[in-house]
Amino acid sequence: MKIGIFDSGLGGLTIFKSIHERLPVYDYIYLGDNARTPYGNRSFEAIYKFTTESVQFLFSQDCYLIIIACNTASAKALRNIQQKILPVTYPTRRVLGVIRPSVEELGRYTQTKTVALWATEGTVKSMSFEIELKKLAPEILLIQQACPLLVPLVEAGEFDGVGARHFVEKYWRATKARSAQIDTLLLACTHYPLLLPVIKASLPDSVKILVQGDFVTPSLQDYLHRHPEIDEKLTRHGTTKFLTTDQSEGFDRLAQVFLGYCVKSERVEL
Ligand code: DGL
Repeated sequence: MKIGIFDSGLGGLTIFKSIHERLPVYDYIYLGDNARTPYGNRSFEAIYKFTTESVQFLFSQDCYLIIIACNTASAKALRNIQQKILPVTYPTRRVLGVIRPSVEELGRYTQTKTVALWATEGTVKSMSFEIELKKLAPEILLIQQACPLLVPLVEAGEFDGVGARHFVEKYWRATKARSAQIDTLLLACTHYPLLLPVIKASLPDSVKILVQGDFVTPSLQDYLHRHPEIDEKLTRHGTTKFLTTDQSEGFDRLAQVFLGYCVKSERVEL
């Protein structure tokens, strides 16, 4: 049985990369729903339907544990999948998201108790980060900024050009106008780590920039440690299969940018 990693497209490769570097022995299937990406501006119903189909598909491919690497899908579909789909379809299998592991760590970084979050419109509107944070660290003020143009820039391979710099600076101006106390910025979208050099260059050094792979991977390690009944089901041959719902050539070309090495994906119908 394998670990499935799901994203609306390529961005989840940033999470996969981090997990795979720390836990290379397991067998993985990465599924990108490239045919229907981006999810960021879609309705709750559409995201729930697409995410459920993708999760069911990964289960049919022998995934025992699935990580929904996409923030938008984690925000809008994870809870319903955990509560409504899993108990009736695969009660012993597990689906995890990326929001809780990110929020759990925020308190360790902020001195001013004021954290900014950049994400898609869907993630911001869902208020999922805010809701989790209220439970775990209610003293932290969260300033949420939707950055709708960053995903298309990354998908177009525009990581450090004038366009990327322009929009990163614009979103930072809008963010800091809402509080002068921000000392931490969480990049709560799979694609944004690729813009890290531009983001670092555009923000003051006093602002810590957090990427989710740094939280999701240790959290998964800890989860497997605490759940030997799941861990023992997972096979360890060190393999990875990359699947996409769109053309594999396009996936492979950009995957190389995200991962830093070549991959050969397969196109699948969900
Ligand atoms: N994967 C999405 C996220 O992390 C970004 C791309 C999209 O909008 O589909 O929110």
